[in-house]
Amino acid sequence: EKGGYEHFMLKEIFEQPKALRDTLAGRLNHDHVVLQEVDLTPKEVALFNKVAIVACGTAYHAGLIGKGLIEHWAKIPVEVDIASEFRYRAPLIDDKTLVVVISQSGETADTLAALRESKKKGARVIAITNVVGSSVAREAHDVIHTWAGPEIAVASTKAYTTQIEGMILLALYLTQAKGTMPKEWITEIISELGKIPDKAEIILKEGAERIKTLARYFEEVGSAFFIGRGLDWAVAQEGSLKLKEISYIHAEAYASGELKHGTLALITEDTPIIALATQRDLYEKTVSNVIEVKARDAKVIGFTFEGNTDFHKSVNEIFYIPETVNELAPLLTVIPLQLLSYYVSVARGNDVDKPRNLAKSVTVE
Ligand code: M6R
Repeated sequence: EKGGYEHFMLKEIFEQPKALRDTLAGRLNHDHVVLQEVDLTPKEVALFNKVAIVACGTAYHAGLIGKGLIEHWAKIPVEVDIASEFRYRAPLIDDKTLVVVISQSGETADTLAALRESKKKGARVIAITNVVGSSVAREAHDVIHTWAGPEIAVASTKAYTTQIEGMILLALYLTQAKGTMPKEWITEIISELGKIPDKAEIILKEGAERIKTLARYFEEVGSAFFIGRGLDWAVAQEGSLKLKEISYIHAEAYASGELKHGTLALITEDTPIIALATQRDLYEKTVSNVIEVKARDAKVIGFTFEGNTDFHKSVNEIFYIPETVNELAPLLTVIPLQLLSYYVSVARGNDVDKPRNLAKSVTVE
């Protein structure tokens, strides 16, 4: 049932091109997206004064990407909350709030409680979930299904990338309704989005072996940092969770510009740094942060777009990602990070698919 792969996690990482394709199927038109499951009129969209995204773990990290996109494209303010925080902090939501809950399983207790609380307060609730008929799917007003297929490994991979697609589709849907972006831009993003599954395939085919060799940087270390700005920072948080979850190496994700506010004290030659630099408008700033960590003798593994002929000078190792527009980069950048944690976990002899102390679905508080 592992289809020839040694672990479910590896199988699911390699299933991403298909999962990404299936989740986009029927939803992309030349210059607009179609979300048949979401039933909002432009008038209703215009009345939302806020979007609140609520989820746990990896799904929360997909929400962070959603915030960046909805604010940037649809110009609606967005809050992102961890569900266990949201439900106890008396969030300010009402009938002018669009709540988006994200859950692979659709059964996570805190996420479900947040959904119920939001409905009680009169909010419109859209769910992004991978399980048809799950509690979250049944109780939300509208559902955007991700079509990743069953995810068995505890560490979430294909659910995350398809959740990001769900967020992209929703962000474009809201943008269309609000008319906040020229049609040509929407057309370009949609055309780029359609090419993502093939690019994911290229990374897997051409990059997996290279990532395997980079895993050696993590054999002996006790701690690692993931740094980036903007959407790269959101992906850094997911990369860091993946590494912690299955390799048991302490890892932290840091907004690159925040390093000087304390964290640099922890960076030494024994702290590998994963530096993400896909956001073109933030590139120069990211490079200056990489130079700061290199000055502490840290080994830096950089991730950037293929067309970037500069970044390799600032890092020890470089991994190239096929080019796409800034906003879609997270869909690709995370793939080598998933592979990296996988290979590190295997090298350390861990139980990759069933990491210690963790369950696939957290149905208790
Ligand atoms: O089923 P859900 O998406 O609601 O699960 C949320 C988290 O428990 C889950 O994403 C968890 O963080 C993963 N094990 C991370 O890989």
